[in-house]
Amino acid sequence: MTTIVESARPQPGTFLCRLDELSDPGSKGFRFRVGERMFAGFVVLKDGELKGYVDACPHAGWPLGRLDGGFLTAENDYIYCAGHGALFRITDGRCMAGPGGGPLERWPVEVVGGEVRVAGPS
Ligand code: FES
Repeated sequence: MTTIVESARPQPGTFLCRLDELSDPGSKGFRFRVGERMFAGFVVLKDGELKGYVDACPHAGWPLGRLDGGFLTAENDYIYCAGHGALFRITDGRCMAGPGGGPLERWPVEVVGGEVRVAGPS
């Protein structure tokens, strides 16, 4: 079974996508595989502010995304876990409703020259 582990986490500077590929509000998920290991993360763009989180719900460790690849509610006001419906605040990943429990783990991302890239630890 493939699991999300740190050893597959992409290095700082890794290209993710062009900023203009993202809707505002919008979200996009990314998967990185190293052998049998995988890292999953996603970014959210809202009101011009970009945030990145590890794609693992603190409730059960499942990926959050819907089958269509989205991570936000229909109203684009929260990050939504498709597993059991937890809602997380976009700005800091704090769980606001449902069984999510703790906050989402941040995944540092940055915009460099119009490109979304993995950032170093802050
Ligand atoms: S796995 Fe996310 S709410 Fe249960």
